[in-house]
Amino acid sequence: MTAPEKTGTTTSMAGHEQIPPDLYRRRRADRSYRMLGALITGYERLSRYSWRRRPPVVAVNRDLHLVVDEVRQQADEVVSLRLVHPRGHTLPAWQPGAHLDVVLPSGRMRQYSLCGDPTDRHSYRIAVRRLADGDGGSVEVHDTLQAGSGVTVRGPRNAFPFVTTERYLFLAGGIGITPILPMVRTAAARGVDWHFVYAGRSRESMPFLDEIAQLDPHRVWIRPDTHYGIPASGAELLEHAPEGATVYCCGPAPMITGVRLDLPASRAEALHFERFSAPPIVNGTPFHIDLAHSGHSLQVPADRSALSVIREHVPEVAYSCRQGFCGTCKTRVLAGEVEHRDHVLTDTERAENMMICVSRATSQHLKLDL
Ligand code: FES
Repeated sequence: MTAPEKTGTTTSMAGHEQIPPDLYRRRRADRSYRMLGALITGYERLSRYSWRRRPPVVAVNRDLHLVVDEVRQQADEVVSLRLVHPRGHTLPAWQPGAHLDVVLPSGRMRQYSLCGDPTDRHSYRIAVRRLADGDGGSVEVHDTLQAGSGVTVRGPRNAFPFVTTERYLFLAGGIGITPILPMVRTAAARGVDWHFVYAGRSRESMPFLDEIAQLDPHRVWIRPDTHYGIPASGAELLEHAPEGATVYCCGPAPMITGVRLDLPASRAEALHFERFSAPPIVNGTPFHIDLAHSGHSLQVPADRSALSVIREHVPEVAYSCRQGFCGTCKTRVLAGEVEHRDHVLTDTERAENMMICVSRATSQHLKLDL
């Protein structure tokens, strides 16, 4: 995620060019003001592209033992699960964009966005699309969790923070509705300017349409591919952006790519997005890994992650988000130099560990404690 995105507009610079006189009507020293202006502008630009410098996700080492209170079919192959405390206790608070780490009966851990009401302190709601050719987590949710099942969760944690602003465009594709729905509701409740485009393969595949029908219809566009023939382009989705809008986007990779490419020509100002899957590898170079315990000696090509290579030989290796923010795949490094690309390790932790889902090597060899 290092490619440059939308370049900043010049509106924030206007104030720095018109330097006001001081209290005695004397002209101020331009140089220091220009330096200050450059610093402020640089900070504004960095702040605008928060996806490029996602803050570390605060780890929450808190196991909650909850019970599935309700399983509801929300669309073809999509169920929602309502989770409650077995004794009705209040649950930790969360903000739109937050997710739960859910420990499945097999021991797999997967992240699911919270898609219920953040003001409801007695239940969490998640929704899961069954992916028959996925990595098994969604199938396990569909096939094994039912009303009354116990489930351990960690969190909530937020890797997709919802910023406060006056104008939003929300873009959701399919099951990408899950983090977006609480954001839309929050923006609507605040009375700010918002628009929402919800795309999917067909209406039958799109969860929560009944709830979305309760929102202001003038601000919502439901866009099933079956009706329009082809998936929406980034430009088409961004047409609905209010001037200067902050865009929140969650959906399949082509949708996110289209929005990122077309953002500079749109009225939108900033983009925050969340992926379902591992990000593409940018500027990867090949390296070699030796696994100390299993004895495997493996080559990691430039376009693959260490995790994906290791999984072929050590299928039980722990992982979850595959995006460097959950902390599950943390692995001790016994030798070699790491190029850290995660969002979770502290500098101290990085001295001895790496996230094998995203981080790579700057040396030719790494030796890992696996
Ligand atoms: S799998 Fe989540 S940080 Fe690697």
